Amino acid sequence: MNTPLPARAADERRLPSLRRGAPLTLHFEGAPLAACEGESVAAALLAAGIRRFRATASGEPRGPYCGIGVCFDCLVVIDGLANVRACQTAVRADMKISRQLGWGEGPDGP
Ligand code: FES
Repeated sequence: MNTPLPARAADERRLPSLRRGAPLTLHFEGAPLAACEGESVAAALLAAGIRRFRATASGEPRGPYCGIGVCFDCLVVIDGLANVRACQTAVRADMKISRQLGWGEGPDGP
């Protein structure tokens, strides 16, 4: 059973301060998306509220599960290259990212 922690305990679990890298802009399916140097593609997409990264060959949605490069549920297409693990890829300015469909096709085809 999940019992809410007292307010003071919840505050103590927060990071006191987090220094972020320089801001940059990616493109996710044609739309600009803000990120910071040092973040993974998965972190940037999740921070933007994007949870569905790919679809299986049968069309089932998938998103990051392990976050450590093991499950391959975070595969995306980056700059035309399919099967890239978003959780293992650092962001770069002007990256063009799209959801992966099936075995490596993006919305614009394989
Ligand atoms: S989230 Fe599991 S490999 Fe990326």
